[in-house]
Amino acid sequence: MSYKKLPSASQNQQEFYEITKARIRKIQSHLADSPRGTRLKDKVCVITGVGSMKGIGRAAALLFAHEGAKHLYLIDFDATSLPDLKDTIHKQYPDVKATTLQGDAADEALISGVCARALKEEGRLDVFFANAGIASLAPLESTTADSFMNVMRVNTLSCFLAVKHASAAMKMINASRGKTTSGGSIIMTASVAGLRSGAGTIDYSASKAGVNSIAKTSAYQLQKTNIRVNSICPGLIETGMTTDTFDYARQRGADAKIGQLNPLARFGVAEEIAQAALFLASVTDDSSYVNGQNIAVDGGLSASHPVVPGRWA
Ligand SMILES: NC(=O)c1ccc[n+]([C@@H]2O[C@H](COP(=O)([O-])OP(=O)(O)OC[C@H]3O[C@@H](n4cnc5c(N)ncnc54)[C@H](O)[C@@H]3O)[C@@H](O)[C@H]2O)c1
Repeated sequence: MSYKKLPSASQNQQEFYEITKARIRKIQSHLADSPRGTRLKDKVCVITGVGSMKGIGRAAALLFAHEGAKHLYLIDFDATSLPDLKDTIHKQYPDVKATTLQGDAADEALISGVCARALKEEGRLDVFFANAGIASLAPLESTTADSFMNVMRVNTLSCFLAVKHASAAMKMINASRGKTTSGGSIIMTASVAGLRSGAGTIDYSASKAGVNSIAKTSAYQLQKTNIRVNSICPGLIETGMTTDTFDYARQRGADAKIGQLNPLARFGVAEEIAQAALFLASVTDDSSYVNGQNIAVDGGLSASHPVVPGRWA
C-alpha cells in the first residue's frame, strides 16, 4: 500500500483547489447519493427565504423533504422560483406536502398567519427556520437611517416574529396529531458578521448580532417549554447573496483564492448550512440539548484571531 501526502493550500494552490472542487461536488450530490432519512418524519416546518436557486433556504427545504418532513410551509419575498421548488419537492418527495407563500418574512400578519395555518391544517408546528435575509453593501457614509432600519427589519425583526409566533404555536398540544407536550426547534440564520467585525457592513453585522442575541435571550424566555432556539452563523457561502463576489473572482481567475482565510481554506455551499439546520431541526435526539447557541458554520474562520495563512497560530 502506498500513501501520498495531500497538498496543503500553501504547497500547491491549484491542486488543492481541484481537491476542494471535488469535495464540494460530493457535498452537493448528497441528496442524490443518499437514501431517504427519517430525521424529520411527521414534522411540520416553516422555512423563510427559500426563493433563491442557490440559496440556503432552498437547500434546507430539499433536505428537510429528503428527511421525511410531513408538511413544509415555504416563504419568500420573491415568488419567481417558488413554483420550481414546489414542483421539485412534489416530484422527488411525493409524500411531503409543500405549501409555498409569497411574502415578507418581516410581516407580522404573514408570520403569525403561517403558524396559525400549520396548527389548523396539521395540528402542530415543530420547526421554524427563519432564514430570510438581505445583505447591504453601502459604507458608513452612505448608509442612511432608513437603509439601516430596513436591514434590521428584514434580518432581525423577521427572527423576532418567528420566535414570538412559532413558539406560541409550538406550545400547543394536540394528542390526535401525536403532539402530547410543548416542544419544537426554532433556527435562525445569523452570520459570522454577527460575531465580530470583518464580514459585513455595519447595518448587516448589527442585524446579525441582534439575531444571535435573540437566540440566547429567547431560549431563556422559553424555559421549560422544550422549545429550543439557536442561530447558525455561516461564513462565506456561495449563494445568490454572494454571486457577485464569486463571479468577480472567477472572471479574474482568482477563484482558487476564495475563502482561503479560514483553516479549511475554502468557501462553503448552501447544502452545508442546510445540514446544520437539519441537525438543529431534529426534534428527536440529534440536538435535543443544544439551546441558546450561536453556531458558526464557517470552516473555522471565527475560531482564530487574524493570522497569516500557513503560519502556526
Ligand atoms: N451567503 C453567505 O455567505 C451568508 C453568510 C452568512 C449569512 N448568510 C445568511 O443566510 C441567509 C440566506 O441567504 P443566502 O445566502 O441563501 O442568500 P440568497 O440571497 O441566495 O437567499 C436569500 C433569500 O431570502 C429572500 N428574502 C430576502 N428578503 C426577504 C423577506 N423580507 N422576506 C422573505 N424572503 C426574503 C430572498 O428573496 C432570497 O430568496 C440570509 O439570512 C443571509 O444573511 C449568508
